[in-house]
Amino acid sequence: MQLSDQNTYSIQNIDPHHFTEKFGSPLYVYDGATIRRKVQELQHAFPGINMKIKYACKANTNLSILRLMREIGVELDVVSPGELEMGLIAGYSASQITFTPSGVPFEEVREAVDAGAIVNVDSIPLLEWFGQTYGNTKPCLIRIKPNVAAGGNAKIMTAHADSKFGISVLLLDQILEVVKKYDIKIIGLHQHTGSDIKDAEPFLKVADILFETAKHFPDLEIVDLGGGFKVSYLPGDQITDMDLLGRKISERFKKFCSEYGRELQLWFEPGKFLVSESGYLLVNATVVKEDPARNFVHVNSGLNHLIRPMMYGSYHHILNVSNPAGEPKTYNVVGYICETDTFATDRTLPEVKAGDLLAFLNAGAYGFTMSSNYNARQRPAEILVDQAEAKLIRRRETLEDLLKTQTDL
Ligand code: LLP
Repeated sequence: MQLSDQNTYSIQNIDPHHFTEKFGSPLYVYDGATIRRKVQELQHAFPGINMKIKYACKANTNLSILRLMREIGVELDVVSPGELEMGLIAGYSASQITFTPSGVPFEEVREAVDAGAIVNVDSIPLLEWFGQTYGNTKPCLIRIKPNVAAGGNAKIMTAHADSKFGISVLLLDQILEVVKKYDIKIIGLHQHTGSDIKDAEPFLKVADILFETAKHFPDLEIVDLGGGFKVSYLPGDQITDMDLLGRKISERFKKFCSEYGRELQLWFEPGKFLVSESGYLLVNATVVKEDPARNFVHVNSGLNHLIRPMMYGSYHHILNVSNPAGEPKTYNVVGYICETDTFATDRTLPEVKAGDLLAFLNAGAYGFTMSSNYNARQRPAEILVDQAEAKLIRRRETLEDLLKTQTDL
């Protein structure tokens, strides 16, 4: 079945009514075919170089998604011991996992190193500790802050001078001093510019900064350019031109490798690019309010399930699955949480009636993983549709799940 919205957007491989009847609402549904397609697109975009994908699994840590990634040759980037553990449970070997912490207690770094993961060191104090603790016995990468501002909005830019992430490239002398003092084996340089970066330009700029910095590190095997490719959120939206970016980066990387004197690996850590478009959050309209100021559609969900619109002003396209050919009307689509949780302002949708099934698009990345139990609400179930099979990959939460950590029942 295929549902279309003005012939521009469609939900393929998924029958929303069937799923919500069977598994309830609200419901997260992921399409494995889309994930496979996005992975292939990336794998084919970098001709003639040794490129590796490390999925930034903070975007979606469902074990079935991690297993799917593993099956199709994608490795993992994690930011916490919890994500590392999930990667291991999903069948990754620790050597396929990179730990990219952000100011974490050093004990977490020890846990990751003990497990066998490779670490992106993100501060001078951590580099000192790493050197004191491991000397030259454990290799690591260094996360460089290139001081480049790029990304969809200020909250998701991570490489500008004021960002908390990484070690400023301006501190190169200090980095080299610590590395020398402890003879630390630096096998890679890493950076992550931000999220929702459309143009090739920022990627090329940070690549040049990393390639230049790399000349000071003789034992490199890896250059990691992070994630951040922009995906499509609305009809006609411009996205990162992966073929163009791939060609340009590959060209420069080959030149860099020949100057460096060795073939290195180029790593990327996309999250959104691989999973955003695969996901749908299916909800039902609960109440339609025709207020003198504007029309409101309330749904049986809110910032507790999909916080991106409220946190970043992100656009999520909405389809009225029940009434796709209805008369266009303009609404504010809002949640049921006792906060202002507006999913969409002045959004024109085919007329919505109470009970209609709506689908939020681009819900595969940073949807479920950023969800909460605010207002003592339970999280939705998750379904993965892959290779002609629809599987419940997480059951709906119950009130018992919320109560089980309370000690005074
Ligand atoms: N690598 C590192 C070190 C990161 O911090 C991130 C994302 C990524 C890779 C993947 O970035 P992506 O390809 O997904 O853009 N919650 C926000 C996005 C924050 C991303 C945080 N770091 C959102 O929903 O837009």
